[in-house]
Amino acid sequence: VKRFFSLGMLVVTAACSVGCGRAPDLKFTSSKEVQSLDAKLQRAIVEQLEHNYGTPTRPKLPGQKGENAQLQRGAEIYQSHCAACHGVTGDGAGPVAAFMYPRPRDYRRGTFKFTSTPYGFKPIRDDLLRTVRQGARGTSMPSFALFPEDDLQAVVDYVMVLTNRGELEILLASQAESDDEVDLEAVPGLAADIHASWEKAKQQTVEPLTREPPYTRESIELGKKAFLSETAICHKCHGEDGRGQTSDNLKGFVDSWGFQTRAADLSAGMFHGGQRSADIYRRIYSGINGTPMPSFQAKLADQPETFWHLVHYVQFISSARRREVVSEYNARKAASASAAGEGG
Ligand code: HEC
Ligand code: HEC
Repeated sequence: VKRFFSLGMLVVTAACSVGCGRAPDLKFTSSKEVQSLDAKLQRAIVEQLEHNYGTPTRPKLPGQKGENAQLQRGAEIYQSHCAACHGVTGDGAGPVAAFMYPRPRDYRRGTFKFTSTPYGFKPIRDDLLRTVRQGARGTSMPSFALFPEDDLQAVVDYVMVLTNRGELEILLASQAESDDEVDLEAVPGLAADIHASWEKAKQQTVEPLTREPPYTRESIELGKKAFLSETAICHKCHGEDGRGQTSDNLKGFVDSWGFQTRAADLSAGMFHGGQRSADIYRRIYSGINGTPMPSFQAKLADQPETFWHLVHYVQFISSARRREVVSEYNARKAASASAAGEGG
């Protein structure tokens, strides 16, 4: 089936090369920082970015010669399924992004929220894969679980090209701004440093300090105590009931991408970074990069079990609405049953 499919694609591509051609020319857009430089510096940076990472239709990795079929495939998938939100350049400014909350990720800063690494670190590749596969519940980020595994892998490779390219762009722009030139000899070293930050993250994955204890009333109560304590101060942002109705939170915070953000309503039962206990553990332990959600790694270091109790309390809160709905439903049912009983 697969072979037939690619043969079909080949025929279509061949037909298109004489007939329909490629969709409108895809181009990367320069960042604001680059656009504010003089024309000569802008050109030098654009050249360096293209030299290292290619173009939207012919992406590559630094130092790579010739074609990269996997990246090419990733780019095509990205352009047809992701760019409307994340933008061709990965700047989070696709044509439909403007009114979304939260905004589609701007990959260019190399900052990602849903990591299995400590605060301030890059995600590992599997973290990106998991987000693309599962989506981010409660946001516009859809799940691509039905994509073939190869396509998921390819599109994640391409997202990594966009994020690394974006980081290099930021570095080159700030260097050009201060030195009034682009130091061409320094570029390979900068690209290598960015690559190294991903390698470093691989050795840092966060494994829970202790095994998850059973989900019991006792654990939930301990979690509640911690949630309301002055050590963890969760309630300062999330509110005592976890619904985020505190004055600071309602005013809103600004995230590192420059957009308004708020502490999630934990009773909504939609965790952007995943619902598994281990996901929620990591959000609390490592915080959420780029947002005001702090890491509690250091603060709770001397009471490792507390992380799990907090996870359990958060899970308890998250099912509160469901419990309310179910008990209201049961009450109504009981009431109508007894009314029917009286009537008969
Ligand atoms: C309908 C809009 C939309 C589409 C289409 C979309 N995304 Fe997203 N994406 C989002 C939003 C919104 C977020 C931010 C979620 C958040 O901040 O909680 C996001 C976040 C992400 C993240 C960041 C996760 C993190 O840890 O910070 C990645 C990676 C990502 N998307 C990849 C993709 C890929 C790959 C595709 C295409 C296969 C895609 N997205 C398609 C809206 C979209
Ligand atoms: C300084 C304010 C602040 C404090 C203190 C805080 N949070 Fe948060 N929290 C946030 C914000 C803001 C977000 C939403 C981040 C985003 O934009 O995705 C969040 C998100 C979360 C999420 C949702 C993760 C997801 O996947 O959607 C959980 C769970 C959470 N916080 C738990 C806690 C717990 C438990 C504590 C205390 C140990 C705590 N928070 C303390 C601000 C805070």
